[in-house]
Amino acid sequence: MGTWLEQQFSKRSQGIPPSFIREILKVTSSPDVISFAGGLPNPAFFPIEAFKVSTQRVLEIEGKKALQYSVTEGDPDLRAWIAAYYQQKFGMEVKPDEILITSGSQQALDLVGKLFIEQDDKVLMEKPTYLGAIQCLSQYQPTWAEVALEADGVDIAALEQVCVQDKPKMMYAIPNYQNPSGACYGEEKRAQVARILNENKVILLEDDPYGELNFTGALHTPLRKLYKEGTLLMGSFSKIVAPGLRLGWIVGEKEVIAKLTILKQASDLHSNYFSQRMLLDYLIHNPITEHIGKITAHYKAQCEWMQECIQKYFPKEVTYIAPEGGMFLWLDLGKINARALLKQCMEEDKVVFVPGDPFYITAEAGMDKARLNFSNGTKEKIQEGISKIGKRLHDML
Ligand SMILES: Cc1ncc(COP(=O)(O)O)c(C=O)c1O
Repeated sequence: MGTWLEQQFSKRSQGIPPSFIREILKVTSSPDVISFAGGLPNPAFFPIEAFKVSTQRVLEIEGKKALQYSVTEGDPDLRAWIAAYYQQKFGMEVKPDEILITSGSQQALDLVGKLFIEQDDKVLMEKPTYLGAIQCLSQYQPTWAEVALEADGVDIAALEQVCVQDKPKMMYAIPNYQNPSGACYGEEKRAQVARILNENKVILLEDDPYGELNFTGALHTPLRKLYKEGTLLMGSFSKIVAPGLRLGWIVGEKEVIAKLTILKQASDLHSNYFSQRMLLDYLIHNPITEHIGKITAHYKAQCEWMQECIQKYFPKEVTYIAPEGGMFLWLDLGKINARALLKQCMEEDKVVFVPGDPFYITAEAGMDKARLNFSNGTKEKIQEGISKIGKRLHDML
């Protein structure tokens, strides 16, 4: 029943699952724990020295402006920078008034939910999907539909069927190096997804925080380029610069951005303006592609090393598809229950990871899956942690 105050909580707040990862992060803050759980970028690549210079410069040159309230849409120069990025990289025309700066892409997700989802609207998710999206969109009390994810994107026949039968209002997808599965849509599937969603007039929420963490150099066409009108494309500086900045963005048709801007205004007036100006100064004075190149090379090496360790220490019944980017390796544990494995690894070995089930909408799904993060750890810790998990896996078989 809870206290009388708890009884006053809105219905909206009651169906929101707590984030398993935030819960596990409480355990992992202890230095003797080896964590493959969080989706943390490697702090060795936070540009601390360059930020010192940019902070100093912004305060000296424009401190009075940078510390003042600002516009909800976000800094015009930062929006122009993002527009130029899409133009240069993908030949995709984006106008500054088609961009809203947000407090991380997580806020964009929330604003889109607020704008489009009525109670019981059908929202289509990849299976599995980012648990932060399940949590965020749950606030708006949708009903869910799911479509299975294969290594090169969603199952196209299933997508077509669910769009025709369930008539979802919106689909949420992470086409590049998905969290948690690492899956990346092939070009053919991108075109098919765009066609199906367009034919059925399903809004696409395209979440792309990992696209730049690309180990192969392949260019992946944004779905917004293929299905412009119906797609809202979210981006983030969290994985390519630093998550503590809390800066991301959303690209959409200008009438949608105008409405999202009003919702954002009601929510937080605007994203941290000093952060925006400091980041812009950093982007102007430092070659971001070089920085991303360094991060990506390191993550690729870490990912390969984790796979080497897995091959050495895990039983052959445990499988995975080698990721070509991103930050995660998604394990299929076969007959082993991920929660039971986690309990042993956490209590006996102080090694943690995320079991698969929080990434699924359906209860009981994903019990045979586990997500390992490879971006935030040293070679030694990866080897030690994987060997310990491996020992438990062998014992549990
Ligand atoms: C798929 C996905 N979307 C969105 C986010 C939120 O990122 P941020 O709000 O830091 O941009 C994350 C964070 O891990 C993520 O994995």
